[in-house]
Amino acid sequence: MIVLGIETSCDETAAALVDADRRILAQALASQFEEHRDYGGVVPEIAARSHVERLDGLVAKAMADAGLDWNAVDAVAATAGPGLIGGVMVGLVEAKAIAAVAGIPFVAVNHLEGHALTVRLIEDVAFPYLLLLISGGHCQLLAVEGVGRYTRLGGTIDDAAGEAFDKTAKMLDLGYPGGPAVERAAAGGDARRFRLPRPMVGRAGCDFSFSGLKTAVRQTLESLKSPDAQAIADLAASFQQTVAEVLADRVANAAALFRARWPQGDTLVVAGGVAANRVLRTRLGDAAASGGLRLIAPPPALCTDNAAMIAWAGLERLRLGISDPLDTPARARWPLDDAA
Ligand code: KG4
Ligand code: ZN
Repeated sequence: MIVLGIETSCDETAAALVDADRRILAQALASQFEEHRDYGGVVPEIAARSHVERLDGLVAKAMADAGLDWNAVDAVAATAGPGLIGGVMVGLVEAKAIAAVAGIPFVAVNHLEGHALTVRLIEDVAFPYLLLLISGGHCQLLAVEGVGRYTRLGGTIDDAAGEAFDKTAKMLDLGYPGGPAVERAAAGGDARRFRLPRPMVGRAGCDFSFSGLKTAVRQTLESLKSPDAQAIADLAASFQQTVAEVLADRVANAAALFRARWPQGDTLVVAGGVAANRVLRTRLGDAAASGGLRLIAPPPALCTDNAAMIAWAGLERLRLGISDPLDTPARARWPLDDAA
C-alpha cells in the first residue's frame, strides 16, 4: 500500500509518499522561514498563499522522485486540522482533487495524530505508549492506546513549550524560527549561570506552565542592561535546561500514572517540533529510565512538521478501513482526545 501525504497546517508545505513497509519513498518540503522572518512569526495569509504557490510543484516532485504514476498510489491523506485554517484548506482541496481524479480514497488526518504515530513509521512500537507531544502550539502528555484512541494525562495551562522557545528567541534576538536558534546559542552557554523558576515542578499531576518562565527570562535580560554574546548564550542555556527540568518532572509523574493504568506499556515517545532538541531528548531519556520506561524519539527531521507523518497516519487509518468523504471540512481546532 502506498499513500501520498500532504501537510500545510502551518509554515511548511510538504508532500511525501510512504508505503506499508515503513519506507519513505519520497519527501518534498519547503519551509517558509524567509517569508515570515521580518514579522518574527507566522503570518496566516502569507502562509496560505505560499502553500497555494508551492504545493502542486512539491506533489509533482515527490511523485517524480519516487518514480510513480497515479496508478501506483492507493490513497491520499492530508492534514485537516488543527492549524491555520487557510493553509489547511489549501492542502485539503489538493488532496480531495487528487482523490477525485485518481479515483482513490481520501483520508483526513489530525496533524497531532501525525506527530503521535510517526514513531511507528520508524520502528514497530506497540500500543499502548506514553506520548509527550511538544510543538509550537501544543504541549501535552497522552496515553496512546491505538489509532484514534488517546487519553490525556495533562497539558499546558498557558503557553506551549515551542511557544516559550520562540518567544525566548525573540527576546534574546536570536532570530526565527526560535527553537533551533535557542538550541544553537545554548550550546555555547553555561546553563548554571542563571537560576530561573521551574513552573509546576514538584506539584502533583502532569500539567505544564511556561508563561512564568518566559517572564523570568525577560526580567533577567532587563537586569543585565547591555548583555554581551556570552550572557545571551548563558541565558539561552539556562532557559533550555529549565524547560528540560520541567518536562522531566512532569514526565516522571505521567510515567507513574501510565504504568499503573497501562501496565503492559513500556515506552515513552517524544514527538513534535520541540522533540528535535538534543538537550531535551537526553534529559527525557533519563527521566523515562527513572520511570521504568524506554524513550523513543523520531529523528529530528520527522519531529518537525513534515508530510511523511501525515501519509503514515493516513496509512494507519486505511489499514483499519477508515477513509473520509470529500466534503470533510478543515478544522482550526481539533483535540486528539474526545473528552477534551
Ligand atoms: O511540530 P512543529 O514543527 O509545528 C507545530 O505543529 O507547531 O513545531 C514547531 C515548534 C516551534 O515552536 C519551534 O521553535 C520548535 O518546534 N522547535 C524547537 C526545535 N526545533 C523546532 N524547539 C526547541 N529546539 C529545537 N531544536
Ligand atoms: Zn506540528
